[in-house]
Amino acid sequence: MKKSDSNSSEIRNTFLNFFKKNNHEEVESSPLIPHNDPSILFTNSGMVQFKKWFTGEEKPLFDNVITIQKCLRAGGKHNDLENVGFTPRHHTFFEMLGNFSFGGYFKEEAISLAWNLLTKEFLLDKNKLIITVYKEDENSFKLWKKISGLSSDRIIKISTDDNFWSMGETGPCGPCSEIFYDNGSEVEGGLPGTKNQDGNRFVEIWNLVFMEYEKHGDALKNLPGKFVDTGMGLERISAVLSGKINNYDTDLFDYLFEKISLETNSKMNDDVLINYRIISDHLKSIVFMMSEGVLPSNEGRGYVLRRIIRRALLNVYKIKPNLIILNKLVDHVIEKYRGVYYELEKASLFIK
Ligand code: GLY
Repeated sequence: MKKSDSNSSEIRNTFLNFFKKNNHEEVESSPLIPHNDPSILFTNSGMVQFKKWFTGEEKPLFDNVITIQKCLRAGGKHNDLENVGFTPRHHTFFEMLGNFSFGGYFKEEAISLAWNLLTKEFLLDKNKLIITVYKEDENSFKLWKKISGLSSDRIIKISTDDNFWSMGETGPCGPCSEIFYDNGSEVEGGLPGTKNQDGNRFVEIWNLVFMEYEKHGDALKNLPGKFVDTGMGLERISAVLSGKINNYDTDLFDYLFEKISLETNSKMNDDVLINYRIISDHLKSIVFMMSEGVLPSNEGRGYVLRRIIRRALLNVYKIKPNLIILNKLVDHVIEKYRGVYYELEKASLFIK
C-alpha cells in the first residue's frame, strides 16, 4: 500500500484482509449503545462487545477475531468531547480497527501481527516507529526487541496508567503496549513519557492490550485466561498513511468540509477551521447515535446527544447565524459510511 493511495476504505480492506489471512474471523461492529451493560453509556472501544468473552461469563465463539467498531467517546471514563476541534486527533465518533484473541495467541503473536501489518502491508518505515511498554512488562520489552529489531531506546518503558488500559471503572483491563509514529523533528512534541508528550510529533497509532485482569474499583482479579485486545483508530492511521498530521485532513472529513462550505457560503480558513471541524465531528455522532434510536433528552445518552447537537448548532451559528443546515448534511455522512454501516440509510428520514 503506497502512502499516496491511502484512503479510509483501502485501509479498512487491507486491515481486514491481512487478519483474515492470519486466521481471524471478522465480526460486525456492535451498536454504539451497548446492550445489557449499564457500566458504560456508549461503546468506547472494540472490546466492549466481547466483555463477557473476556470475563468467562460467555464462551467465545472464535479464538481470533477482527472488527471495525464504531465508537463514541463523549461520556464516562473515555470522554473526548471538550477536545474536539482543538486538537488534531480527538473525535466524539470514530472507528476502531481491532484484533482480539480469546486464547488463540498472546503477546508474541500480537506484537508480530501488528509489526507486520504496519511495516509490510502499510509499508511504514520502521525508523519512524516508537514503542511503549508497561514498565513492569519486561516480557513485552524483550519480544518487541526480538520481533522489530528496534534499539532499546526506541522501546520506552512507561510506569503510568497510559500503559495500563481499562474499559471503565469496572471491566477487563491489562498492561498495554502502544505504537507511535514519528511525524518528524520539524513537528513540535516530545517522546512518550516526557513532559512534552502531548505535542504532535509522536502520535499513538495502535494500542495492544494484554488483557489479564478484571477491575472492580481499585481491586483487580485475574481473568480466566490471557487475552489480546487491540485498538487502532481509523482516523489516525488514515492521517499517517496520507502523510498528514491532522486527522481532519483526510478523506474521512474533507467531503463534509466541502458541503459545510457550500451550505454556509463560507470558505474554510483559519477563522472558521475549528468550527468546521467541530460541526463535522459532531454531525457524525448525531447521525450514528440517532440511527440507533437515541433522541435528545435531559439525561443519560439523550443528554449527551443533546449537548452534541447544541455544540454543532453553536458552531454553525459562529460561521453564520440563523442557518439550519445540519439536517442538510445528514445524507452526506450516510453516503460516506453506508457501505460499512448498513443501518444508516433506513434511518435517514428519522434523523433529518
Ligand atoms: N481497547 C484498547 C483501546 O481502546 O485502546
